[in-house]
Amino acid sequence: MKLKDQVAIVTGAGRNIGEEIAKLFVAEGAKVAIFDMDKARGDHVAAAINASGGEAAAFVVDVSKGVDVERGVAEVAKRFGRIDILINNVAISDNKTIIDLTEEEWDRVMSVTLKGPFLMGKFVAKQMIAQGSGGKMVNIASTSGWRGRPRAIAYTTAKGGVINLTRSMAVQLAPHNIRVNSVSPNKAGSPVGKDEFNPDRPITNLLKKAVEPSDVAKAVLFLVSDDATFVIGENIFVDGGVMAVDVPT
Ligand SMILES: NC(=O)c1ccc[n+]([C@@H]2O[C@H](COP(=O)([O-])OP(=O)(O)OC[C@H]3O[C@@H](n4cnc5c(N)ncnc54)[C@H](O)[C@@H]3O)[C@@H](O)[C@H]2O)c1
Repeated sequence: MKLKDQVAIVTGAGRNIGEEIAKLFVAEGAKVAIFDMDKARGDHVAAAINASGGEAAAFVVDVSKGVDVERGVAEVAKRFGRIDILINNVAISDNKTIIDLTEEEWDRVMSVTLKGPFLMGKFVAKQMIAQGSGGKMVNIASTSGWRGRPRAIAYTTAKGGVINLTRSMAVQLAPHNIRVNSVSPNKAGSPVGKDEFNPDRPITNLLKKAVEPSDVAKAVLFLVSDDATFVIGENIFVDGGVMAVDVPT
């Protein structure tokens, strides 16, 4: 077991990629705190984990609100005694162009997708530093943070921010033995913000088959395990090679 008795917070673990990360971590011996704004989703995943013999608890937290995050992190520390791992997985998208997106929509995407990982990183880092035994953090970015897209102006910008937030967090937290990295998926499971898997979602990767949320979870597990002790400020693409291909112009 790679995470025996470690305590992990996984944000947005109420479904899709976050849910798979939470379940894989539990299978590897971790206790998991599920942070999701949607109570029913968080409770559902926590109940499934507990029913299968693992240990999980759901916390209703809006990651875009500092007071929520601070309270949630304190509740986890009280309930489980410590925090060893943070996975910043929550994001929302906009699917609009610079012409169509309103100021309010821009602000909401930035608050959740970019400010959320900052707030979570800040309060969890304080807890880890107080514990004095280091920790691991992974920010879930996206291939959308590395290139321009015809739509999703705010999401692509926020994800570009998450990628460099990761590097600065890595630099600033390394002296406290907290390793920070990112994972950039491409089209994994259902689209961001959607419940339903769309079998007609176009697949553009080199394997010609859909990336599964469990594929993303395995890369995240590697980064928080002792197999990655010297991996700091790095990004792993889980994209079936999408980023390796030049786009014909
Ligand atoms: N799904 C994909 O194809 C894909 C591709 C590339 C990157 N990603 C990234 O992977 C991560 C997970 O994506 P997903 O598709 O599994 O997401 P999702 O939309 O399926 O699930 C997100 C979860 O976060 C919760 N949530 C939303 N806003 C919240 C908030 N403010 N506070 C707390 N919880 C909140 C939702 O209730 C939901 O349960 C995201 O960072 C996303 O950008 C996903």
